[in-house]
This record gives sequence, structure tokens and C-alpha cells, in this order.
Amino acid sequence: MVSVRGVWGVGVCFTTLLTILYLHLAAELSTLRSALQQTGTAISLSATGPSSTATSSLDLDPEQFVIIYNRVPKTGSTSLIGLAYDLCAINAFNVIHVNTSKNSPTLSLSDQMKFVYNVSNWDEKKPGIYHGHVAYIDFVRFGVSRQPVYINMVRAPLDRLVSYYYFLRYGDDLRPNLIRKRQGNKMTLDECVLRKHVDCSPSVLWIQVPFFCGQHAECWVPGSDWALQQAKHNLVHQYLVVGVTEEMEQFVALLEAALPRLFHGALHLYQQGSKSHLRKTVKKVMPSEDTIARLQNTKVWRLENEFYNFALDHFHFLVRKGLIEDPNTGQITVRESAFNYEKIKPKKG
Ligand SMILES: *[C@@H]1O[C@H](CO)[C@@H](O)[C@H](O)[C@H]1NC(C)=O
Ligand SMILES: *[C@@H]1O[C@H](CO)[C@@H](O)[C@H](O)[C@H]1NC(C)=O
Repeated sequence: MVSVRGVWGVGVCFTTLLTILYLHLAAELSTLRSALQQTGTAISLSATGPSSTATSSLDLDPEQFVIIYNRVPKTGSTSLIGLAYDLCAINAFNVIHVNTSKNSPTLSLSDQMKFVYNVSNWDEKKPGIYHGHVAYIDFVRFGVSRQPVYINMVRAPLDRLVSYYYFLRYGDDLRPNLIRKRQGNKMTLDECVLRKHVDCSPSVLWIQVPFFCGQHAECWVPGSDWALQQAKHNLVHQYLVVGVTEEMEQFVALLEAALPRLFHGALHLYQQGSKSHLRKTVKKVMPSEDTIARLQNTKVWRLENEFYNFALDHFHFLVRKGLIEDPNTGQITVRESAFNYEKIKPKKG
């Protein structure tokens, strides 16, 4: 008897367990189903136009898009952001300048936290582009689940240095009356290098690597191999697209093709020319071969240059995949989409 009751008892337990499992599964299924239905509605809502509320749970809602363009000084960023300012009213998005005091690219931990939460939660400014001279900030590290889309532009390191060096002394044509940091200083870059002055020490070349590397101490150690690896990693994994100053038209074309919600019309605007050289350093003296050789004979330059070439290869790959350049006229057009869906089953009936 005892053993029979025991078996029966186990049997009851087992049946109960099965029943509970079944009920649990059924409940899960119905939540899943209603979640799917909601998503379906949200997609169809957002497809009909920029509707506001119901879409906030969608990860790829173009109306919720946030871009961070953490521009490196003297890479042509004023021209690029000028396009965004011209398009923001037409395409209905927001552009916001992040002005850090003394243009410092690194922020205190509390400022980073404020920035991350503000950018993530400021719904009235979505979709939007934030731009400023700020080194890369990893949003996920602060506990938010979604990183904004990062974009950026890089330039050959010595060209950038020459431009920056003379910009500090002579300013540019955009704001000719602004007094620059080294206004009145007539020292050429050649003289600077000969005198081993701090304004042209190898550490001033260390700028694009740390901007992509981020807010960590090691990023800002000139010539750090770790920083270079981190910068490459971020460029590939955290940036949607990184253009180069030397091929800005291609960059604009890629941006428009990938992000039409914001950049529709950008290529045309750029080609019209009014924005292509928005800002020029007033006076530039090209450095001598000796100066170039001296600057290039440093570890800082080698790593910066390696990073630039890495970015360049990555960018050229995207250009080949995404654009067609007419060999005769140089005219750039966007390639047609090279994939489509088919064999979609089951058929609706
Ligand atoms: C950034 O803010 C400072 C201090 O408020 C101001 O002096 C400076 O002009 C601002 N920079 C730009 C580019 O607007
Ligand atoms: C973000 O910062 C701006 C300016 O300080 C403020 O007006 C806005 O309310 C903030 N938004 C959020 C969601 O924190």
C-alpha cells in the first residue's frame, strides 16, 4: 500500500508540475504574441510618418535617432556640420553644439554621466546630432542600454598639424576678428621644430588616436600602443562611418545614403560648393622636407599615421561598396541596393 500510494503521490506531483508548466508556457506565449502585435502596430505607425509616442520602444525608429559627431579640431568638421545646420530645418531634426570649457576633450566623471543621461533622455531633441570636441564616451558603461550612433572624420596627421599650427597664429576666414591663442606669433613650423618648441613637440600630434580611444588616462599617453588598439577597436565597433577630410564628398554621399532621414539632400548641397571650403586657415607655410622628416621620425607620428591609414582603408572599403565614381567626370552616385527579400512564406491568404 505504502509503495503504491507513494507512486501515486509522485504521479500527482508530476501531473501538477506538467499542468503548471503548461499554464506557464501558455501565459508566456500570449505575452509574446501581444508583444509581437504591439511591435507590428508600431512599425506600421512609424511607416506612415513621423508619429510621436507609440514608437519609443522600437530600437531602429528613425525619429529616435541620436548621432554624436565628436569632431577632431582642424579636420574639416566645420564644413560638415555646416551641412547639418543647413539641413536641420528642411529635414526636421536638431543640431546641438556641445561646448566644453577650454575645448577640453575629456570630461569629469560626473559630467560624462550628465551628458550620457541627458543625451539619452532628451526626447524633444530627437532625432538630433550632437557635435563637439569631445573624446569618445562609451554610453553602455554608464548603464544605458543603447549607444547613440557615432560618426567622425580624420585627416592625414601632418596636414592636420600644419593647419592647426597656423590656425592658432592667423585664425581663419570664418571668424577673422577672433583673437587666437598664438596671435602675433610669427614663428614658422620649420623654426618651431628647429627650436624644439612645445607647440610642435611630438605630443601635439597625438590627437586623433586619443579622440577615438576615449576618456581613459592611457588614451592620452602620447605614443601608447594600447591607445592605438583601443582607437582602432572603437572605430570599427562603435562608429557607423568615419570619413576622411581629403574625400569629404564621398563621406557626405555615404552619410546621405545610410541616414537619409537626416542627410537627405546633403550631397547636392555639398556639390553646389558653397559649403565645401567653409573655413580656411588664413596663412599656411608648407613645412620643409627636413621638418617633415623630423616630425615623422617619432613614435607618436607612426602610431597616429597607422591609425589614419587604418581609417582610410576602412573608409575606402565602404566607398567601393556604396558609391560609383564616374572615371571621366568624377561624378559620384550611390549604388543601388544589392539585396532583396524573396521566398517569403507562408503566403497571406
Ligand atoms: C563656449 O562657451 C564659452 C564660455 O561660455 C564661450 O566663451 C565660447 O565662445 C563658446 N564657444 C563657442 C564656439 O561658441
Ligand atoms: C538636457 O539638458 C538641457 C540643457 O541643460 C535641459 O534643458 C534638458 O531638460 C535636459 N534633458 C534631460 C532629459 O535631462
